[in-house]
Amino acid sequence: MKCAIVTGAARGIGLATAKKMLADGWRVVLADWDADELTSVCAVLGDNALPLVTDVSNPEQVNAMIAGTLNWAGRLDAIVNNAGVADFGPIEDTDFARWRAVMDVNLDGVFLCSQAAIAALKAQGGAIVNIASISGLRASTLRVAYGTSKAAVIQLTKQQAAELGEYGIRANCVCPGPVRTKLAMAVHSQEIIDAYHDAIPLNRYGTEEELANVITFLCSDQASYVTGQVVAVDGGFESTGVGLPALRATD
Ligand SMILES: NC(=O)c1ccc[n+]([C@@H]2O[C@H](COP(=O)([O-])OP(=O)(O)OC[C@H]3O[C@@H](n4cnc5c(N)ncnc54)[C@H](O)[C@@H]3O)[C@@H](O)[C@H]2O)c1
Repeated sequence: MKCAIVTGAARGIGLATAKKMLADGWRVVLADWDADELTSVCAVLGDNALPLVTDVSNPEQVNAMIAGTLNWAGRLDAIVNNAGVADFGPIEDTDFARWRAVMDVNLDGVFLCSQAAIAALKAQGGAIVNIASISGLRASTLRVAYGTSKAAVIQLTKQQAAELGEYGIRANCVCPGPVRTKLAMAVHSQEIIDAYHDAIPLNRYGTEEELANVITFLCSDQASYVTGQVVAVDGGFESTGVGLPALRATD
């Protein structure tokens, strides 16, 4: 049975991805630093789910996560680097501590978890799926740390694909558009919500499950010749420029 690690899996997009992979017959390690939420969600997920309390920005804890996974499942076929934090603020208010707190999790965490997984992934010809954001594809206000961290994740994915393809390891990146998770709702003001609606052809937020479907596909053998790609799951946001509200007004 194939085994995946999903980081940031106690809620939101990570939890939906873990559930989708379990339904598709994977064994799944759910890694998160929120021990209480992780324990309560895993209580109902069955024997093919293993909770491992992990801070993805801590190298020792990341190594323990990989060791714990191999000890439990004997193999690792995919890692989904989904754990992330959002802190929106103007450049002048983003002091070094706020900048570092975002980079620690969103960028260092992806680097550390992927690197620690390489030896095990080599053995299976496994997959890395990194979760970036549309904020890493297109700049906007208030996202100096968040958007920059996510743009770096996009480039990190391409670096991984370039180097690790030799070993049969695929690396791809998913850029979610807005999804009503705890992370998003903490930073999406009504103005931001309205702005997204005005900029998204499908004219709505996405769901956790819509993200999970694409992430799971990229982990699976169905995507066996796909690597180094950046897939925006964003209702069309990235492909589009000005004009949507004007068109809607004529409906
Ligand atoms: N929701 C959106 O609109 C949106 C849009 C674009 C990108 N994303 C990205 O999708 C990913 C998932 O976000 P979400 O919206 O489901 O958020 P969420 O807050 O619901 O879930 C994130 C999870 O990551 C965990 N986490 C945070 N820091 C961690 C750390 N250091 N170690 C381990 N776990 C940690 C949290 O405890 C939480 O369970 C993030 O990388 C986020 O940046 C989300």
